[in-house]
Amino acid sequence: MTEIIKPGSSLEIFARITHSLQEGKIIGLPTETVYGLAGDATNEHAIATIFALKNRPSFNPLICHFCSVQHVLEHCEMHPDLMALSQTFWPGPLTLVLKRKKTSPIVPLVSAGLDTLAVRIPDHPVAQEIIERYGHPLAAPSANPSEAISPTSPQHIYKAFGENPALPFIVDGGSCQVGLESTIVDLTQERPVLLRPGQITCEDLKKIIADTCTTGDVENARIRAPGMMKRHYAPGIPLRMGATSVQPDEALLAFGQKDIPEGARCTLNLSPAGNLVEAATNLFKMLHALDEPYYHAIAVMPIPQEGIGIAINDRLRRAATPCPAIKGA
Ligand code: TXA
Ligand code: MG
Repeated sequence: MTEIIKPGSSLEIFARITHSLQEGKIIGLPTETVYGLAGDATNEHAIATIFALKNRPSFNPLICHFCSVQHVLEHCEMHPDLMALSQTFWPGPLTLVLKRKKTSPIVPLVSAGLDTLAVRIPDHPVAQEIIERYGHPLAAPSANPSEAISPTSPQHIYKAFGENPALPFIVDGGSCQVGLESTIVDLTQERPVLLRPGQITCEDLKKIIADTCTTGDVENARIRAPGMMKRHYAPGIPLRMGATSVQPDEALLAFGQKDIPEGARCTLNLSPAGNLVEAATNLFKMLHALDEPYYHAIAVMPIPQEGIGIAINDRLRRAATPCPAIKGA
């Protein structure tokens, strides 16, 4: 019922994908960051299906994916920083929150009723070709059930949502190169505000727009951003950060070659060379692999708080946040 397909240059497969999107179906979409659950942003049925599939609260808006800045400007108001940012970082792992145009046919639920829209142009040839052929923007949250670990391979999506008639295709675009969700910058406040750290760092942004908020402002920004949940990206078993020792029933997620604690039941290494970019690419893949009920917990070694390490630690912190206590249990 749910097919994993590699489109290559097959026109027939692209035609089938387009047809499914026209019917309001959802597809698993490869991007350079993580896989998305994509549907036509102008189709109410498709958007409602995405929220239902993910069990996503309706106050948490979705990102719209475009193939050109001109296309973005059909739906969003111009902003003085848009051209410089888009020329530097698009296509790529940067999402911008802009004021939406009143005339935009994008359904209000996409932006959870807000008058803003989060937009990006993904740097993945398959995603670009699908969006270009389809013609409408695609709304796509990361393709994981709400709060769970984001997917970086088609198999992760299949495991979570496969054999669902609303999801006829998971498009195989290989493993995601970046491995962490896009950096989000809100351009609708007085000053640009970094809402979610990612591969593109605050320092990268400051080179282009001098007045981006510092990381000190991020806590405030989180409170304003509707989807910045405390618990997110979480495996089914507990996760603890900054581990310098392990228990025999724990799985270890190591980093680098030095000071690796011994005695874990299983060890995977995010980057033996201590490379943070490689660690980001491997993070969700390895969390998925270690998320097995026969481990008591996942212990993660300390990750340097610099460059993309800031985004890795942000995801780990949310993954380590315990489930809220179940009332009456
Ligand atoms: O890399 C990515 O951004 C991936 C790929 C698939 O593009 N997508 C992704 O989507 O991470 P999602 O839904 O998992 O995360 C989107 C985040 C949420 O935290 C949401 O609250 C925020 O973007 N967001 C969306 N629209 C917004 C808006 N209008 N204002 C503020 N935050 C917004
Ligand atoms: Mg997500």
